[in-house]
Amino acid sequence: MNMRRLWFVLALVMAVSFTVLGLMGREIYRQAPPIPARVVDPSGVVLMTREDIQTGQLAWQSMGGQQNGSIWGHGGYVAPDWSADQLHREATILLDLWAQRDHGVAYAALNPEAQAALKARLTREMRTNTYDPRTETITISADRAAALKQVKAHYVSLYSDSAELEKLREQYAIKNNAVPDPARREVIADYYWWTAWATGTNRPGDTVSYTSNWPHEPLIGNTPTSANLVWSVASVLILIFGVGSLVFWHARVKEEDHLRPPTKDPLSGFKPTPSMKATGKYFLTVIGLFLLQVGLGALTAHYAVEGHEFYGVQISDLIPYAVTRTWHTQLAVFWIATAWLATGLYVAPLISGHEPRFQRLGVNVLWGALVFVVLGSMAGEWLGVQQFFDLDMNWWFGHQGWEYVDLGRFWQTLLFVGLMLWLLLVGRALWPALRRPSESKPVLAILFMSAIAIGLFYGAGFMWGKHTHVSMVEYWRWWIVHLWVEGFFEVFATSVISLLLVNLGLVRAKSANLAVLFGTIVFMVGGVLGTAHHWYFSGTPVSVIAIGAVISALEVVPLALVGAEAYENWRHTKEAPWVATYRWPILFFVAVAFWNLLGAGVFGFMINPPISLYFIQGLNTTATHGHAALFGVYGMLGIGLLLFCFRGLARREAWSDKLLAWTFWLLNGGLAMMVFMSLLPTGVVQALASIEHGYWYARSPEVIHSPLVETLVWMRVPGDIVFSFGAFTLAIFAARLVLGGKRRATAEAPLPVAAE
Ligand code: HEM
Ligand SMILES: [Fe+2]
Repeated sequence: MNMRRLWFVLALVMAVSFTVLGLMGREIYRQAPPIPARVVDPSGVVLMTREDIQTGQLAWQSMGGQQNGSIWGHGGYVAPDWSADQLHREATILLDLWAQRDHGVAYAALNPEAQAALKARLTREMRTNTYDPRTETITISADRAAALKQVKAHYVSLYSDSAELEKLREQYAIKNNAVPDPARREVIADYYWWTAWATGTNRPGDTVSYTSNWPHEPLIGNTPTSANLVWSVASVLILIFGVGSLVFWHARVKEEDHLRPPTKDPLSGFKPTPSMKATGKYFLTVIGLFLLQVGLGALTAHYAVEGHEFYGVQISDLIPYAVTRTWHTQLAVFWIATAWLATGLYVAPLISGHEPRFQRLGVNVLWGALVFVVLGSMAGEWLGVQQFFDLDMNWWFGHQGWEYVDLGRFWQTLLFVGLMLWLLLVGRALWPALRRPSESKPVLAILFMSAIAIGLFYGAGFMWGKHTHVSMVEYWRWWIVHLWVEGFFEVFATSVISLLLVNLGLVRAKSANLAVLFGTIVFMVGGVLGTAHHWYFSGTPVSVIAIGAVISALEVVPLALVGAEAYENWRHTKEAPWVATYRWPILFFVAVAFWNLLGAGVFGFMINPPISLYFIQGLNTTATHGHAALFGVYGMLGIGLLLFCFRGLARREAWSDKLLAWTFWLLNGGLAMMVFMSLLPTGVVQALASIEHGYWYARSPEVIHSPLVETLVWMRVPGDIVFSFGAFTLAIFAARLVLGGKRRATAEAPLPVAAE
């Protein structure tokens, strides 16, 4: 297939996919569960208002939101899913109330027939939709109103420092007196009630709840829908068909590409320009943030066994779980992004041979701005969770409570401006290369377009405001998180690795162009509409399950075949003696492909069919996938790119291949240990609990703090230690480069090349 036709196909895929994605947004908006103007009991007493529910959402965000347990399955794993927890508490309170009234005993003491009768009554009571669109009012029975008040009292007590719930708070890793303001505690409980109402109440004229019967709650007949099963099977079939088609295509177009590599390093003669040299501090920042992130990860994991303490020292008042988990996840994004931004700034003049005026100044200013945003947003998040702000200030400067977009709107805006500045800096340095005819122009163009997309799509984070419906926040939030990691990042990864290999003379430009363009199409076909796999149960219509399941299965297709790419890359390290000096950066690219297959492909598909995610959304199976994919693919890529740039910035004498070998194996081995010894088995234990008893149970202290699961959490420690050593050896490696570089500061020349 020729390039022109492929470009046309890419444009078509993008146009169709984004049109459908936009239409889905419109449907999600229209069919979102209504936020009532008021909830009343039969005598007309107002139990809560719309304002309470919306303020409750903001108050919940202020204490860390999704970092503290989850709503509709999105968020942290130690505390419960509040919607499922609320639903289960309400259901059991009602059953006990009726059992006492009708039979004079607790529900558990009844015979199965009597239990079944009460369950049937409960199902009718909970699932019947009593929202009146005319008056925008939900009317609930007196019994249900009583249950609501009981559950509310529980949450109000939970977020205070009451002694009776001290143990539960510790198990949930929620600090004492997490929300000192009683009014905020009350509205948070109202918000939880409304999110639970949407999960158990049938859509008007339907037998399925607003969240397609999620979470699994046998007491009220919340079980998988038929659409869920049908589209799950369809997704498996599509995957098999997709893999088959791709294998066929490969067999058809496969050309043996026997490229003789150059006899010496083509980049060896290039002297880093001043702006390229200025990127050095970015990479050192990357390593610093990475170390910090690893430390915070260990602390966050420890909170799963000791919710308030670190080996006996009370620390949760000062730096609670909500803060450590926020920083841990945000830093992952920050350091990986910093590595890529720096690579862009380093590579642009290298490829174009052009150093624009004031480029070094721009690079330095951007670095200062990035450090300011990273530290400022982290400080804001801490102040927010510690409840220092009013709800307005919190939204602007504190904690937005949305996982991966936690930073306050002010910081979010600055970050966006920083990304635009970066695009400008890279663009002006790269411009001559983009204009002049060259063989590798298509790869370069795709790389630059993916960079533009990464920057612009961060803008989706501005589409929600303070009072936006949670279904719509989820819609836009995944525009960033998903479209980044499963769309533009994959394209960026493929094109940047190809471009570097082309510039090293290891891959022919023509075959790289074709492979990258084709790869981009394949990633976009699955990646764009695949976003819907995050919205199956977020108050969305059934069409979301259908499109999400089928199209996201296609995302796995290219990942099933990256083994070939890994093998090719590994072979490059043996092609000419001088390539040995690039051995470890290239091996990190091999790791990218490996974890793309395992972390993104296998573990991603494990949780992807609707019937899987129905039971295991927000369990440790997601943590398994999150770690193996995010660090495995993009963390490894960040380190590989960092090493590639260090290779040109530092002196060969200070370069230690031995330390890099240790780094490589410790990081990969540590990640595998963490995943296989701890996260995956924990996820499987929880999955069984969820299928057997209900989702609430899989997230309850009975399971999370069972001896088995606590042991499995402890089994993280060996992997964490191995992994941390890998981070340290990387830091030592970099320190040697800096110190070794200083000692020989007289010589300006870049790395001498190993003799042939
Ligand atoms: C390298 C590519 C990928 C990266 C970096 C990545 C990363 C992530 C992250 C960080 C999360 C959120 C975890 C959390 O909430 O704690 C997530 C969730 C998810 N990912 Fe991926 N992912 C990738 C590819 C895939 C693929 C290919 C699939 C399947 C087709 C997939 C399916 C999912 C699903 C269904 C969820 C939602 C899980 C839940 O809500 O519990 N991911 N991913
Ligand atoms: Fe996704």
